[in-house]
Amino acid sequence: MSDHNEVLLPITEKHLNTGLRGIPVGTCRTSKVDPVKGVSYVGYPIAELAFKDPEAVVHLLLERALPTPEQLTFFKADLRARSGVNPKIIETLRSLPAEGHPMEWLETGLILLGMTSKSGDILEDARNVIAWAPELVAAIFRLRSGWGDPIPSRPELGLIENFVHMLGVPGGDTDRLVRMLRVFYILHLDHGGGNLSTFTGKAVASARTDIFSSLAAAMCGLYGPLHGRANQDGLAFVRRVGSSDPERVEAFVRGELADGGKIFGFGHAVLRAEDPRATIQYELGEVLCPDDPLFATARTLRTVGVKVLQEIEKVSNPFPNVDAVSGSLLNASGLTDPNYYTVLFGLSRITGIAAQIVDERLRLRDGRGVPIYRPKYIAEDQPERTVR
Ligand code: MLT
Repeated sequence: MSDHNEVLLPITEKHLNTGLRGIPVGTCRTSKVDPVKGVSYVGYPIAELAFKDPEAVVHLLLERALPTPEQLTFFKADLRARSGVNPKIIETLRSLPAEGHPMEWLETGLILLGMTSKSGDILEDARNVIAWAPELVAAIFRLRSGWGDPIPSRPELGLIENFVHMLGVPGGDTDRLVRMLRVFYILHLDHGGGNLSTFTGKAVASARTDIFSSLAAAMCGLYGPLHGRANQDGLAFVRRVGSSDPERVEAFVRGELADGGKIFGFGHAVLRAEDPRATIQYELGEVLCPDDPLFATARTLRTVGVKVLQEIEKVSNPFPNVDAVSGSLLNASGLTDPNYYTVLFGLSRITGIAAQIVDERLRLRDGRGVPIYRPKYIAEDQPERTVR
């Protein structure tokens, strides 16, 4: 971005009413999505980060550098010291309707965090929300699922280890869950600046709204079935396939397409190759749960789905995305209710969005920050009239 006069894209009428698809809006310093290579965080390909300490990757997004061992110790201690959601929030969550989706609970929880606990300092609030989100999400799981009271936090365990401890999944395999969720958390942290939830969070934050309300708005976007909620539909789809036999899977996929149905977990707005976040999870599944029947179905879909979708000319990306296999892994780790998968996505994505909000508020445009979002809409079908 050296020449500030460079024409990036000539805007024509065909770009209107397309959800800003492909239209440059600003710059993003936390992550980049290459259509073929997939996402990288601050220059590091996701595959090089996926098995690192989750806190180290959070540090990378916030500080634009992987921490030294000393910095990591300090950063973990800082997150630990922040732990402890205001008890009023947990009490209020108890009265939320169980029929509300877990994402609606998360949206509410973030608003409650803002009501009770905002400091007014955006950097402080960003770090606080990252430290508090695991406790909030674990409480949502427990209270809404009727698993019992929230389990007191033990932040000394580490961000994800403590989250799994606070979840207390009945009959869950703690070790597998920790190994799975550490990777899941890293993979979902950030995905460029233009995905709907990130864009929404930044747009709301541009009004100088606090980070909690901005993130709640972002989570309302993530809740949509075309965005984050696709991960819960991904598992429902794999369950419906009902077999890992290639011939039966192929017949199922063809049948769905013939009925006008979707092949969940395939395709992406930006990617044009297999999502590296899917590749990493397929590899993880081969280690953690190779014999799990749903994982076996996802494995077969990986080849059969691509083969069938490639035959359709208008399909620009026939490859698996991050949702193609994450549900099968979560299910095999003991989290069997897909209604909760999007809050796990949200738990992670909150961090990337918070990092981008901080950047837009404090650092971009030589520290002046991004002004309030105000794109232009062209008036249509509104001939001038007068009231007589
Ligand atoms: C993703 O993680 O794939 C997204 O948030 C969706 C997108 O990039 O548009």
